[in-house]
Amino acid sequence: MTKIEKIVLSYSGGLDTSIILKWFQETYGCEVVTFTADLGQGEELEPAQAKAEMAGVRDIRIVDLREEFVSDFVFPMLRANALYEGQYLLGSSIARPLIAKHLVGIAREVGADAIAHGATGKGNDQLRFELAVNALDPSIKVIAPWRQWNIRSRMQLLEYAEKHRIPVPSDKRGEAPFSIDANLLHTSTEGKSLENPAEVAPDHIYQRTVDPVDAPDAPEIITIGFERGDPVSVNGKAMTPAALLTELNGLGGRHGVGRLDLVENRFIGMKSRGIYETPGGTILLTAHRGIESITLDRAAAHLKDEIMPRYAELIYNGFWFAPEREMLQALIDHSQAFVSGEVTLRLYKGSASVISRVSPCSLYSADLVTFEESAVAFDHHDAEGFIRLNGLRLRSWAARNGR
Ligand code: ARG
Repeated sequence: MTKIEKIVLSYSGGLDTSIILKWFQETYGCEVVTFTADLGQGEELEPAQAKAEMAGVRDIRIVDLREEFVSDFVFPMLRANALYEGQYLLGSSIARPLIAKHLVGIAREVGADAIAHGATGKGNDQLRFELAVNALDPSIKVIAPWRQWNIRSRMQLLEYAEKHRIPVPSDKRGEAPFSIDANLLHTSTEGKSLENPAEVAPDHIYQRTVDPVDAPDAPEIITIGFERGDPVSVNGKAMTPAALLTELNGLGGRHGVGRLDLVENRFIGMKSRGIYETPGGTILLTAHRGIESITLDRAAAHLKDEIMPRYAELIYNGFWFAPEREMLQALIDHSQAFVSGEVTLRLYKGSASVISRVSPCSLYSADLVTFEESAVAFDHHDAEGFIRLNGLRLRSWAARNGR
């Protein structure tokens, strides 16, 4: 085994990373620096500090990355209206490159030999962490204990925890918790009974959204302001990116917006089933499409929609720090120069629907589209020729087919 003196560990304070911390101390006898990113996951943070202290860690880093997360990762992604496989808003996928970036920064600062993460060998997250490190600093080694140690299952993990007196968390019902990944954009829940896609997800796993059935009977009307493709205000009040997403999470959660029960294709090859709650992100996606609908040229909008699945797949697969993602991002960002204005939405029993939109940069012309008489020059005969030419090849085709 190669000699390792110092490791920077991406540490949540949860069971897996607590065990990894112990395992490093036992296996390598090395110094471990823990890094915990505050991405708005909420309650998990103070325990992380206490647990790292208890485990004898001397250099404990807990860094508030909420604003950076939303402004430099979530919002650029939203400009693209990114959805993986048509539905997933990429809440876990987009957090990993940010964490990797800071792990690399700390590793350089403290002169660590390696960085480490608690992602398993079956998931997407290992790819996202490690591809990012490859792109940012290829000289830094990555250690993924889940691919090295001989713990092979959650059962064995629990045995190891018991042996080393590492507290095993349980959910409100005293059962082993689901695998949960939370941040300001979403909560993702996987594992246990969800591994059977034929089984309905139990209600108690939802953390930040009410069941739409129990949502208020009165709809709520909200207005979101956009500037150059990014949301900047809610109900006329200017907010920082993280504050804005937090606000929309509260509003959306109360109305049951943004629940998703999905079977998706992991990059590594298998299908997996998970439950996502993305209240604020769902509102923002709908609102962003609303403001784009009046401010983007048709061909520009359609080109964006063509590249979107590719862009989303790059993020899902872990290629945030890759030349092709940056190229697509430049195209997307360029398209947003006039995507400014206000969108009003109605939140009601699980849905967020656009009900009106205004923009100082609107391309919409009521005079042009109106069913009434209009002063704007539009020669109806042009439409006749337009149809005749577009139909030319169809007439040839039909004649050949003997119709
Ligand atoms: N399947 C999602 C993704 O790859 C979430 C992964 C992390 N979530 C979790 N509950 N462990 O982006």
